[in-house]
Amino acid sequence: MVAQEKLLKEAWKAAQNAYAPYSRFCVGACIEMKDHTFVTGANVENASYGLTNCAERSALFAAYSLGYRKQDILQMAIVCDHPHLVMPCGACRQVMVELIEEDTPIYLSNGSMQKMTTIRELMPLSFSGKDLL
Ligand code: THU
Repeated sequence: MVAQEKLLKEAWKAAQNAYAPYSRFCVGACIEMKDHTFVTGANVENASYGLTNCAERSALFAAYSLGYRKQDILQMAIVCDHPHLVMPCGACRQVMVELIEEDTPIYLSNGSMQKMTTIRELMPLSFSGKDLL
């Protein structure tokens, strides 16, 4: 099994749990820990649209809630059944700057195309806790 096969499979399973009655846009995310635990998340919408939680943040908050931290994360996947690859939104990128190491692999997939990126690439020149020192 290639290293990302289960990661992507779990992310697709999570996408099925998306609560997206308004957009019908279902996104799944999966984080594989270095101990090979897989933690997943899906987008959860709200009638007050701004309260929606994206799949990426759902998965990261779940992982942190379980006690994992950035140094425990091996890789992450974000999937969406859409004609082009869906990129994390700005809010999720800011959260990822804080909660994922700069060079942790992040795989994006729409089922036919796949891309590997990092938060360093997605969010250059970012604001972080270092700026508060
Ligand atoms: N969404 C995600 O979950 N992740 C992304 O990377 C982009 C957007 C969700 C939020 C909302 O529920 C729906 O997709 C449409 O914006």
